Amino acid sequence: MPGIVIIGVQWGDEGKGKVTDLLAERADVVVRFQGGNNAGHTIVRGGETWKLHLMPSGILHPGKLCVIGNGVVIDPKVLTDELDELRRRQVDTSGLRISANAHLIMPYHKLLDDAGEIKLGKLQIGTTRRGIGPCYADKAARLGIRVQDLLDEKILKKKIVAALEPKRLSLREYAKDPQLDLQTMTEEYLTYGHRIEPYVADTSRIVLEALDRDELIVFEGAQGTLLDIDHGTYPFVTSSNPVAGAACIGAGVGPKDIDEVWGITKAYGTRVGAGPFPTELDGPLADELRDRGGEYGTTTGRARRVGWLDLVALRYAVRLNSLTALVVTKLDVLSGQRVLKVCTRYRGEDEAEFDHFPWHQTVLHHVVGEYRELPGWNEDLRDCRSEDDLPEAARSYLQFIADFVRVPVALIGVGPGRDEVIWTRAGAGMHGSAAAVTA
Ligand code: GDP
Ligand code: IMO
Ligand code: MG
Repeated sequence: MPGIVIIGVQWGDEGKGKVTDLLAERADVVVRFQGGNNAGHTIVRGGETWKLHLMPSGILHPGKLCVIGNGVVIDPKVLTDELDELRRRQVDTSGLRISANAHLIMPYHKLLDDAGEIKLGKLQIGTTRRGIGPCYADKAARLGIRVQDLLDEKILKKKIVAALEPKRLSLREYAKDPQLDLQTMTEEYLTYGHRIEPYVADTSRIVLEALDRDELIVFEGAQGTLLDIDHGTYPFVTSSNPVAGAACIGAGVGPKDIDEVWGITKAYGTRVGAGPFPTELDGPLADELRDRGGEYGTTTGRARRVGWLDLVALRYAVRLNSLTALVVTKLDVLSGQRVLKVCTRYRGEDEAEFDHFPWHQTVLHHVVGEYRELPGWNEDLRDCRSEDDLPEAARSYLQFIADFVRVPVALIGVGPGRDEVIWTRAGAGMHGSAAAVTA
């Protein structure tokens, strides 16, 4: 049975939560491998909506082994709140396992995230202000505090002192903030430690043993390829690697344990936060797509920027992630457009043309999209359950995308609900019921 990685191939919010929940039906283990509660993964089932930030999107399947891997940064308050909320809604969370090596978001990380953004002023990244960047920075500086440190008061206190020391200057204005009081912080975090202790485990071993038993593992990414700290639109990125390769590091498995990589893209583009977005739209069309698609952040509620589908960026993501299949979500949102545009090339200053994603930040900031116009459709797609149900123009739109990036479409989203999907022949292997697969 394969290890399958699910990642976003745009700027996040592509529908990873929904796809992971769908695949979790067949999977034995679901593993989150990077990011933190900057993520907001929505699952809509039977009229109920779930917004998960740290919990792997397999958690709604009773007892399913759901792993928060070592590559994730955990805000333990958010984690325990999420556990409480799930229990309140009668979800069985007994399958949760948390890596002892995952790093913790501390109160000072959130303050530093805030302060950093305020200091940047107009140049700010538009982070989620959840402390993600400062936490990963401490991890790299070897000043991080890990889940296992919560289990020993002495060690925890020592590590907090060591982590705070080099930050004195930047935290000066918060000196009197009660959150930063050593004793208060230690006690608060020890309490979280008691709560999560039953879930703490050697998760890399758990995943490896499942692979040895030939089980199906879904590695669930957060954010998206263009937010990758190495390959994205730096510095307007997150502080982890949302690309597929990071699944190995963030879960503790080797590259040979990954058999498939599914890239999730919307049928158009969105971005939340600052940074280049070559196909961005504004005006009434942007407002219409934002409203139809409900494009408001799951985590921060911010209105998402909206644009046409960018195939130059998608081809770049295909290359970075070795995609084996595409999932195109939110096709339903495009109904009612007479013409649909897809970006097939960038044009820069001096009429320079770019078939490939530019490596130079200044170039990228100045490019605009060149478009191919494709016919739109008026039909409502939400009841379509097979490719044959789709209007001809919708099928051609998908075919154009697949041909351009040379990756087959395995799954199509036609609504937020978990049943509002179309499995194609390319996705058949991952689908529980062969009957729903179109010929
Ligand atoms: P994630 O972060 O990648 O998991 O995505 P989010 O949950 O942040 O945002 C995706 C949004 O689109 C959520 O509100 C989903 O319920 C919704 N969604 C997912 N797939 C579809 C689809 O095919 N059609 C429509 N209309 N909505 C979808
Ligand atoms: P999911 O998993 C969309 C964006 C922020 C900001 C940048 C850096 O739901 O797709 P950070 O707080 O990570 O330091 O912010 O990254 N960002 C996301 N955008 N979806 C996400 O997650 C995001 N997580 C972070 O808006 O531009
Ligand atoms: Mg999201």
